[in-house]
Amino acid sequence: MSASFHRPIFDKVSLHQDIAKVLVDEVSLRQRVRELGEIINREYAHKDLLLVSVLKGSIIFMADLIRAITIPHEIDFMATSSYGAGVSSSGVVRILKDLNTSIEGRNVIIVEDIIDSGHTLNYLARILQERRPASLRIMTLLDKPERREVDIHVDWVGFSIPNEFVVGYGLDYNEIYRNLPYIGVLKPSVYGAPE
Ligand code: IMP
Ligand code: MG
Repeated sequence: MSASFHRPIFDKVSLHQDIAKVLVDEVSLRQRVRELGEIINREYAHKDLLLVSVLKGSIIFMADLIRAITIPHEIDFMATSSYGAGVSSSGVVRILKDLNTSIEGRNVIIVEDIIDSGHTLNYLARILQERRPASLRIMTLLDKPERREVDIHVDWVGFSIPNEFVVGYGLDYNEIYRNLPYIGVLKPSVYGAPE
């Protein structure tokens, strides 16, 4: 490992300077997450419920969502990766970490940060369905419907957003910006495109 390797991002004092505009502010996030939690409380009362969070982007959403849920439930995590670390997704999905628990006969909700092309969710839903859960539904915080390349049924969407690259509230660009408390549009100059 080279000690001289330097990433200029770490020189920044605040990440806010890289945000062109706030798309979903903290108050709206809190309000919508509470509504989504209440939907789950209503629809899953007295059911064996497992929430599956897709790492890493959904961790903040997941953490807030489960505190908006008042009924008993379990959580588990999966990690996927589309090959390549760019702004757009390639359509090839890899499982980096599988569930620790069996989902057979259980009611499962996949909790995602964002659905873009739909490839990740399409693949994930297919392999989880093969494990014969009692039910399998999808909740995503964000949806970019314009970008969809595969037809996939999403049960609950927090916010539908336009086709812009967003960061914050768990979502990253090159692993940075997850800690921003809102959903913001990254200045195109940050990823080398003209403003
Ligand atoms: P899909 O397979 O194209 O639907 O891509 C889904 C994944 O791409 C998400 O789980 C995110 O990790 C990532 N992604 C898609 N759009 C954005 C974005 O605007 N900001 C950050 N990550 C994104
Ligand atoms: Mg991601």
